[in-house]
Amino acid sequence: MTTINDLAQWKREGRRFPMLTAYDFATAQILDEAGIPVLLVGDSVANNVLGYETTLPVTMEEMLHHARAVSRGAEHALLVGDMPFLSYQASVEEAVRNAGRFLKEGGMHAVKIEGPRFELAEVMASVGIPVMGHLGLTPQSVHSMGGYRVQAKTEESAERLLAAALQLDKSGVFSLVLEGIPSDVAKSVTEAVNVPTIGIGAGPHCDGQVLVVNDMLGIGGGTYPKFVKRYANLREDIAGAARAFADEVESGQFPDAGHSYS
Ligand code: KIV
Repeated sequence: MTTINDLAQWKREGRRFPMLTAYDFATAQILDEAGIPVLLVGDSVANNVLGYETTLPVTMEEMLHHARAVSRGAEHALLVGDMPFLSYQASVEEAVRNAGRFLKEGGMHAVKIEGPRFELAEVMASVGIPVMGHLGLTPQSVHSMGGYRVQAKTEESAERLLAAALQLDKSGVFSLVLEGIPSDVAKSVTEAVNVPTIGIGAGPHCDGQVLVVNDMLGIGGGTYPKFVKRYANLREDIAGAARAFADEVESGQFPDAGHSYS
């Protein structure tokens, strides 16, 4: 099984690693069997599975429901539960209790929090809850960022991000997601911190790379952000299969003798 120690070792060895989101049993099983070492039950389940506009509405109960399904499907991967909006911002005590639920009830091995929450990262690490940080474009702050915009584009904001990354590293996070920032900023952060960085829309210099599984499989409709590479086009495949099934039912071709009991 992958552990947070493996990630630390891979950083020391300069070995790059992939992470994908997973939201359900079957997908988690497939990704785990394919050897993806880190699976994130992302709060992006909100947009990708539950049909919300943003990640803000998803609740702790919904996240735990998906976390449990993923934990039943994955045997080897390090499983990270994404703390949903308002499950960790109101108080450290409430945050620790909610993070603990991911481990106790959700079958997760670690949690992820967005933003420069140094005290929280330190407290969680001290009670034995491994924490993944997340800086840059943090989707739970979509309204305060004025939309999904690339962050750290000015020298000053890049310096602020680097300072926050160093402080999170000191506070005890075991890894750090860098989302939606220029490649050179991600490179500076990756070189400066001890923990592995995991990029999404942050260029090629991070220690690991993460994509939303629905994006990389081409399940979503509409447009994709520039940083997404589609490795499959399941939306077309699924629609094609559904149309073929419908045609065969309508023409009486399905079920044939081979798919019927005598
Ligand atoms: O919820 C999510 O999918 C994420 C990744 C984009 C890192 O936080």
